Amino acid sequence: MKKYTHINDIDDIYSWIKAANNIKSDPLKDLGLGKNKTLVMLFFNSSLRTRLSTQKAALNLGMNPIIMNVSGDSWAIEFADETIMNGNTAEHIKEAAAVVSQYADVIAVRAFPSLKDKEKDENEFVINSFLKYASVPIVNMESSIGHPLQGLTDAITIAEHTITARPKVVLSWAPHIKALPHAVGNSFIQAMQKMDVEFVITNPEGYDLNPEITKNTPIFHNQSVALKEADFVYAKNWSSYDDYGKVLKTDSNWMITKEKLGSAKFMHCLPVRRNVVVEDAVLDSDNSLVIEQANNRTFAAQLVLKKILENL
Ligand code: CP
Repeated sequence: MKKYTHINDIDDIYSWIKAANNIKSDPLKDLGLGKNKTLVMLFFNSSLRTRLSTQKAALNLGMNPIIMNVSGDSWAIEFADETIMNGNTAEHIKEAAAVVSQYADVIAVRAFPSLKDKEKDENEFVINSFLKYASVPIVNMESSIGHPLQGLTDAITIAEHTITARPKVVLSWAPHIKALPHAVGNSFIQAMQKMDVEFVITNPEGYDLNPEITKNTPIFHNQSVALKEADFVYAKNWSSYDDYGKVLKTDSNWMITKEKLGSAKFMHCLPVRRNVVVEDAVLDSDNSLVIEQANNRTFAAQLVLKKILENL
């Protein structure tokens, strides 16, 4: 595999899930694969899980991870072509990506959207600039519109906890005080569309995600109808797509409660705001999969790095 920047880089999701489970059962079995190989991880935004699980995955493969918080520790990078760099940016992506490629066998990048300029965000200019100007494989650790490591993790977790032939999976919008990106929701949708599950989305009016991503997946604006007979409820906030980046609703009616969840399993990518997105009684119950989800981030990342290392 030459890159992992989108859920569509997964050819057969069930074979990937099986491979991730094999890694999980014996995480150190490929310890020699990454010997003398370096993973450079560049963070334009904060992280806990992605940073630590991807580093752990690299270490499990014998790689040497190098981590840099680009915003703050590095020179501000210019992404525009043919620009006069007499403003705040000190280094162009053309040089930055070429230079980092000399230190790395794989580069992983996290860069969130502005949520102000839809066209710019949807062009994925940070990840696409690294794909264009770096000479080594690129891994997306969450970009403007996708979080494919999280989406793969979520598929692994759902497969692991499925006990019925075709489970019902509900992606539910939940309230939040801040404007959040669409990336996790988008990649979860794209992952579920690859799986044999009954998948529906529920969100308030004004919060429908990009129709080019939701495609034919049913969208309910009535949460209680959508949640009926759910086996998995994945809660996530996102800002409006149509009224781009805006928070239109913050009331608690959409918070996931124990009563709404019933016997379903609860999922969230974390970090999660307790008693805003979901109540304590859900997170502290046996129905919550959030800690196991975070654990599976390591095996998703390890599978991706393994597939890249096998093709270097
Ligand atoms: N789920 C997730 O990506 O967590 P972090 O933002 O902490 O990496």
